[in-house]
Amino acid sequence: MNLDDYKDIFEPFEKLVEIEICGTRREVPENNSLLRCFQFLSIETISYGDFCWNGDCLNCQVWIKNGEKEKSALSCRTKVEEGMKIIRLNHEIKL
Ligand code: FES
Repeated sequence: MNLDDYKDIFEPFEKLVEIEICGTRREVPENNSLLRCFQFLSIETISYGDFCWNGDCLNCQVWIKNGEKEKSALSCRTKVEEGMKIIRLNHEIKL
């Protein structure tokens, strides 16, 4: 499967930003929700995963570390930010 076939699903972006996912650095498109970023990294598992994309199912939940604090967030409702540290993913998110 070619990412180019899926270009239209992403919000417009000019560059990739670096985030950390469970200790691994990954580059993902700026200006997109975290779930879109995961889809960018793993187009098949996220496209065909069990996700509502609108805040209802909670299957896209992630835990983000900010300094000493940890908070959960819905990745379909959270925009990516450079340097974000995601420390845990719902088991439905297979990257
Ligand atoms: S994908 Fe269902 S709540 Fe985010």
